Amino acid sequence: MTITTDFTGKTVIVVGGTSGINRGIAETFARSGARVAVASRSQEKVDDTVTALTEAGAETAMGVAFDVRDADAVAKGLQQMHEALGDFDILISGAAGNFPALMAEMSVNAFRTVVEIDLMGTVHLMKAAYPLLKRPGASVISISAPQAFLPYEGQAHVCAAKAGVDMITRTLALEWSPEGIRINSVVPGYIADTEGARRLAPTEQALEMVRRNIPQGRLGAVQDVANSCLWLASDLADHVTGQVISVDGGLYQRGSGQLGQMIGQMLRSKSGG
Ligand code: COA
Ligand code: NAP
Repeated sequence: MTITTDFTGKTVIVVGGTSGINRGIAETFARSGARVAVASRSQEKVDDTVTALTEAGAETAMGVAFDVRDADAVAKGLQQMHEALGDFDILISGAAGNFPALMAEMSVNAFRTVVEIDLMGTVHLMKAAYPLLKRPGASVISISAPQAFLPYEGQAHVCAAKAGVDMITRTLALEWSPEGIRINSVVPGYIADTEGARRLAPTEQALEMVRRNIPQGRLGAVQDVANSCLWLASDLADHVTGQVISVDGGLYQRGSGQLGQMIGQMLRSKSGG
């Protein structure tokens, strides 16, 4: 059997695709010959990513700067992408914000900010993208997080927001599958050299603790997550929809365990508690 990852002629949209895991996903689809568009808040990051996508081999690469918290800006940005690249075959929703903070110490606005980016950003994107998706055939992927199903101290905002993201995945699988649109969530493990990982395990000691907890014995790589997206976007996953799939080397089988506790200890020692 030959497994092909040729995405020539396919349109791939990666929202939040200008750094870390999501940029790795965008570059992977570019190397597979797709037409790729990215979006994030920073025009500079968008421009830099578009150059990299072109160099990686994208059939066409483009980008638009918008904030996923602004529903009108999301709709306008997606419209521009649609005019340039046609119906969306693959949509990746990956924009997110995170910082460790105990509920008692964070402001209501801090909590709301993460909900607005992760959860409402997903809502804005799904609503604006729906009429632009290829049907039948589109594959939608939300980049979620273990906080969606595991409680972590110092992460109430992210837990609430990402749980919502995964329930949107499950619900839209019911609503959109009859039209030939699949939707799944991918949950990255602890991915080396990424902003999200740095924010939760900022010291060498913390990193070593995480590594010890991963049954496979290694941190994840951006490419591990990108490979799962290639599979979910391909015909090989034609009967897969409404699923939340972890790519984590077995880490989450241990629950949130020591990492979830460590974030709480780190925050309490900072605030003198
Ligand atoms: N602890 C507690 N509260 C924090 C905080 C922290 N570390 N960082 C920000 N906040 C609070 C702010 O104080 C503010 O609340 P306030 O108005 O009551 O003071 C609120 O969160 C919004 O902060 P602001 O800096 O205005 O938000 P922003 O829209 O400019 O940035 C963030 C959004 C805070 C999520 C920022 O970290 C970001 O842009 N993140 C993107 C990258 C990222 O998080 N990557 C990891 C992905 S998993
Ligand atoms: P990252 O490098 O910080 O990437 C976040 C991306 O989202 C950037 O392109 C950022 O660009 C964009 N973004 C942030 N806020 C935005 C907004 N309001 N509107 C539009 N774009 C916005 O983070 P990462 O660590 O690679 O994480 C990527 C995804 O993986 C996230 O969904 C995260 O929850 C998930 N995840 C990561 C890990 C990990 O180990 N890193 C583990 C589990 C889950 P701008 O700054 O230009 O806006």
